[in-house]
Amino acid sequence: MPGSYNRKDHFYNKAKSQGFRSRAYFKLEELSAKYKLFRTGFKVLDLGAWPGGWLQFAGKAVGPKGLVLGLDLVEIEAFAESHIKTLRGDACDPHVQQQAVALAGAKFDVVLSDMSPKLSGVREADSAAAVALAEAALSACRFCLKEDGALVIKLFKGVGTEEFVRGARSSFKKLAREELEASRKTSNEYYLVGRGFRISNV
Ligand SMILES: C[S@@+](CC[C@H](N)C(=O)[O-])C[C@H]1O[C@@H](n2cnc3c(N)ncnc32)[C@H](O)[C@@H]1O
Repeated sequence: MPGSYNRKDHFYNKAKSQGFRSRAYFKLEELSAKYKLFRTGFKVLDLGAWPGGWLQFAGKAVGPKGLVLGLDLVEIEAFAESHIKTLRGDACDPHVQQQAVALAGAKFDVVLSDMSPKLSGVREADSAAAVALAEAALSACRFCLKEDGALVIKLFKGVGTEEFVRGARSSFKKLAREELEASRKTSNEYYLVGRGFRISNV
């Protein structure tokens, strides 16, 4: 789990100076450059989207013919771009997942999850909470992700993570893990990128 860190590091300052809502913008930029996640017109669901750096990046990547829907427990400030929409709710709740699909009018081409649990400071509990969110994101794919679509999930090195990754492998044709330049140096987060979703194997 993330420990103490210098909040106002290089990427924080860069995001602020370029008008992005969070430094996370650069993480998705890095992943997208490597894995070519987005195409014009794609529909993208972003779980744990507040304050909205990923929404800004994905919104630009899919353009106004696409749709980006950001879901979070907390209210996300609305965007001027009408193809970037927000929804308040719990991404673990199947009703909320179905509501997201109804809003988009179809399943999504890409599901993103940058969800992080509220930290308790108890290592095992925090690891379990992080894995539970990753499991919820994977299971949301059953309702929300198109066959052959792509999924990005944030994970933290810790108890249960390796098991989760092994379990997720059969749901995708390709599964890669990526530690990012734009992650904080003190963080033990990494990202799992699944492509070629196999709905029957979730
Ligand atoms: C690191 S932030 C996401 C940053 C975001 N990707 C960006 O680009 O600005 C993690 C978010 O996950 C959200 N979150 C945690 N559990 C959630 C859940 N069960 N459902 C929806 N959002 C959740 C938190 O409220 C928090 O806003």
